[in-house]
Amino acid sequence: MWCSRVSLRRLQHIAVAPLNLFRNATAGAVQRNMSSMSKVYVTRQIPPVGLKILQESGQVQYELWDSDDVPVPRKELLQKVKGVDALLCVLTEKIDAELLDAAGPNLKVVSTMSVGFDHLSLEELKKRGIRVGYTPEVLTDAVAELTVALLLATSRRLIEATHEAKTGGWGTWRTLWLCGHELANSTVGIFGLGRIGVAIAERLAPFKVKKFIYTDVEPRPELASLINAEYVSMDELAKRSDFLAACCALTPETKEICNKDLFSKMKKTSIFINTSRGGVVHQEDLYDALSTGQIAGAGLDVTVPEPLPTDHPLFTLKNCVILPHIASASYSTRNEMSALAANNLLLGLRAKPMIKELKL
Ligand code: GLV
Repeated sequence: MWCSRVSLRRLQHIAVAPLNLFRNATAGAVQRNMSSMSKVYVTRQIPPVGLKILQESGQVQYELWDSDDVPVPRKELLQKVKGVDALLCVLTEKIDAELLDAAGPNLKVVSTMSVGFDHLSLEELKKRGIRVGYTPEVLTDAVAELTVALLLATSRRLIEATHEAKTGGWGTWRTLWLCGHELANSTVGIFGLGRIGVAIAERLAPFKVKKFIYTDVEPRPELASLINAEYVSMDELAKRSDFLAACCALTPETKEICNKDLFSKMKKTSIFINTSRGGVVHQEDLYDALSTGQIAGAGLDVTVPEPLPTDHPLFTLKNCVILPHIASASYSTRNEMSALAANNLLLGLRAKPMIKELKL
């Protein structure tokens, strides 16, 4: 039962001061130093690199939701943030007015261990003068690599193929069995051209892609020139792409923008890939497009909700490959993300520029 495990873990909350401080200081000095430390709540077990940075800073005492299996329950979170100076969170925690009110006026810094920030109410943070750190760039390579893997798994039907091989579907060699669509001579469309879109295109180019096209709120000539990509309208992106990758942030403008309208303009042979946020896709429309053959396949690393219930209709489709939001999940990247999140938090508390700070 996870309940008993969680309550056990609750006992493991850690308040940390640097070890050398304890070694060298008198009890009184320790008391003084402890009380001058900033209070931090960490909403998830983060990789040790990040925790070590917090511990060795001598600047903070932190408490941690020490479970990897379940997110901190909202009620517990609202209790735990009371009076903290900073919060280190991940993308499962909604940082909104209710939480900021519960934290109170001491809260100066929110540092999220994610590149996405759709879980943060930026307006509320800005209103309260709270600074926000996030973790772009360190995960670009990992996300681009996973996107390429997902694209190939979907277009070349790898998941279906391993299933057939394992379950007796592998008969004699057949000429059109498990055929997919190849990247050579294709047009790849990128919806939302940023660092990650560029990194995906750089990795796909050696597969002999014929043309990269992209759309965004406006042309991005500097980034586009790196991959020789042409700026097109959303309509054209849909019509021309053999592979269409959503790489945009989730905002009110992009919410469910990949919908019936887009899918109905795509080629029947096209593959849709999403490693951004599930919220940019209208999932019922995607299901219809996939089940009626409007498009050939979809690879999703992100869904709404997460986890996607195992009885969700998308799981019944052979032409839909679904991953459990693992795009940045490499050991080195997750360690770097935790280090960056910890350093952003410490710099924010010192009223110094963060390494990666959101401009509110
Ligand atoms: C992952 O999805 C992230 O936002 O870092």
